[in-house]
Amino acid sequence: MHWREGSGSGCDSRRLRPRMSPSTSRGRDPASAVAAKAPVLTIDGPSGSGKGTVSRLVAHALGWHYLDSGALYRAVGLAAAWEQIDLSDAEAVAACAARTAIRFDGEGEGEPRVWVNGKDATHQLRMETAGAAASAIAAHPQVRAALTDLQRSFRRFPGLVADGRDMGTVIFPDAPFKVFLTASAGERARRRHKQLKEKGVSVSFDGLLHEITARDERDASRAVAPLKPADDALFLDSTGRSIGEVVQQVLAVVPWSSAEDPPARPSGPR
Ligand code: C5P
Repeated sequence: MHWREGSGSGCDSRRLRPRMSPSTSRGRDPASAVAAKAPVLTIDGPSGSGKGTVSRLVAHALGWHYLDSGALYRAVGLAAAWEQIDLSDAEAVAACAARTAIRFDGEGEGEPRVWVNGKDATHQLRMETAGAAASAIAAHPQVRAALTDLQRSFRRFPGLVADGRDMGTVIFPDAPFKVFLTASAGERARRRHKQLKEKGVSVSFDGLLHEITARDERDASRAVAPLKPADDALFLDSTGRSIGEVVQQVLAVVPWSSAEDPPARPSGPR
């Protein structure tokens, strides 16, 4: 997997300062937890829980970097489909992952454009077919291994918001801040339906509900890195809540998100 960065963070850099009594430290002092490494806020959850939008807005508010790990799995699924690779062939898909070039263009409140092997694949990647292909290849341990270092390389100062299924359990188990965001299956399907409609894609609601439920079942029941909350994650149900409300709840997890000064950035390796 080759990674090329887009146009830099582009994030609003609010200044940040840790409070003395964090709301979610669960026995760890977040100030010391981030002393050696950039802080990470992991946001895991099922499809349609609002993770993507919430994560981008939270990253923007904090002035942190953002990792959309699902986009990496979607991009590999798409690249494998372009090469007509059998998605059940774990070795072939992992090899495809290793040679696929992915680039995100820009970080900010909006959805970044995603380029796969030089093609703008932003629109295609959002389709439910890309989600299903991603879910199929994501069950292969070889493919997950091929993406592990890449995902961890996103951890940079001033901090990272990482969105996915296993961010808090496997990729960043030492993250000082973890959220598991969910919503009822009906509400998740309604949101995805609205999102796709706004993008001019017409799909049946019942079909979408069925696909989302099947994808979640596959993600939650796979042997490797299944979808599940980390033991130390804050569980949030966004059913019936606005995006703004959920963003505020998630921001409250990062104790210095409303303060003025950032945690001291150490000198030396990150
Ligand atoms: O989050 P998104 O819907 O874009 O993810 C697409 C699929 O990629 C998920 O259904 C899941 O199977 C897989 N995925 C994963 N681990 C992640 C992110 C996504 O297995 N960290």
